[in-house]
Amino acid sequence: MSKTKMEVLSLLMEGKYLSGTKIAEQLSVSRTAVWKNIQQLKESGYNITAVTNKGYRLIASSSRVNESLLAATIEKSERLDQLIYKKTIDSTQNHAFRILDQYDGNIVIVSEHQTDGRGRFKREWLSPDETGLYMSLVLRPNISNQNMIVFNLFISLAISEAIRESTGLKSGIKWPNDIFINDKKVCGFLTEVISTDNIVETIVCGIGININSSAVTESLSTATTIIDELKDTEFNVNHFIDVLFKKIEYYYDKFLTESFSSIKDKWLEQAIIFNRELTITTVKEKLRGKALDITDEGYLVILDGDHNIHKVISADIEI
Ligand code: BTN
Repeated sequence: MSKTKMEVLSLLMEGKYLSGTKIAEQLSVSRTAVWKNIQQLKESGYNITAVTNKGYRLIASSSRVNESLLAATIEKSERLDQLIYKKTIDSTQNHAFRILDQYDGNIVIVSEHQTDGRGRFKREWLSPDETGLYMSLVLRPNISNQNMIVFNLFISLAISEAIRESTGLKSGIKWPNDIFINDKKVCGFLTEVISTDNIVETIVCGIGININSSAVTESLSTATTIIDELKDTEFNVNHFIDVLFKKIEYYYDKFLTESFSSIKDKWLEQAIIFNRELTITTVKEKLRGKALDITDEGYLVILDGDHNIHKVISADIEI
């Protein structure tokens, strides 16, 4: 698909009417070029209507993942090479490990239903059909183990910004691996790596996002979903996926080329762990205290009740 066609499709993914003039302006192309690209998209099977004085609109279910829109999103990405979409799967994370040797380059596995989803600390990640978005990214960074420490900081910012931008909701980052809205968990992710001789060859990052409420989220007082938080505002899952992958690509690029300090201010703006009492469980100990800072190397600095400073690299945090 040509670059302009992909950009037109991306603008229409929001599911709203857009005039030819507006699309032409945003993409810096002529209105005739917009018209031609729309015709070609229609010929390829995209259902696009045109209404006088309103413009063009892409007709696609906004609540279900549309595989061809997902494929178009990955096709236009410069970092993500291969898409595997499975309506139902045991776990996208397990599937990633099964197939990662079959393809070179970066792979994205997306599903709407997992029968054996797993979370951090060997917890179960319940993933009922059509209630969430489950995905694993297989990335080949070729960096040292030391540089890997800040990966979760970049990914958490990518996810939180995608939620904020596509829904207007004020999501926040709960270090190290969760995204919250109104103090409830809306997304969790886990990062696993394959490394040899101190070089990270493969990252498998699994992301689970609660979209619709289900028996699972309803029974957990600590969980929420994007649709619950939006109340009556419409949510378009395909537009959200498009924004999410753009953000992941943007922040993954930054992770490979820049240090955490380049995004630290933005990350701090969205972090929800500061200025409150925390319970922190690390592999070594359980602490109560307050987070003071995050270092450029990715360590969280904690001040406990006895005024001792701790630097932790990974932990389970209760807020
Ligand atoms: C956590 O909060 O404990 C992390 C949850 C990660 C869940 C995702 S869903 C997609 C991928 N597949 C899995 O089995 N787990 C991750």
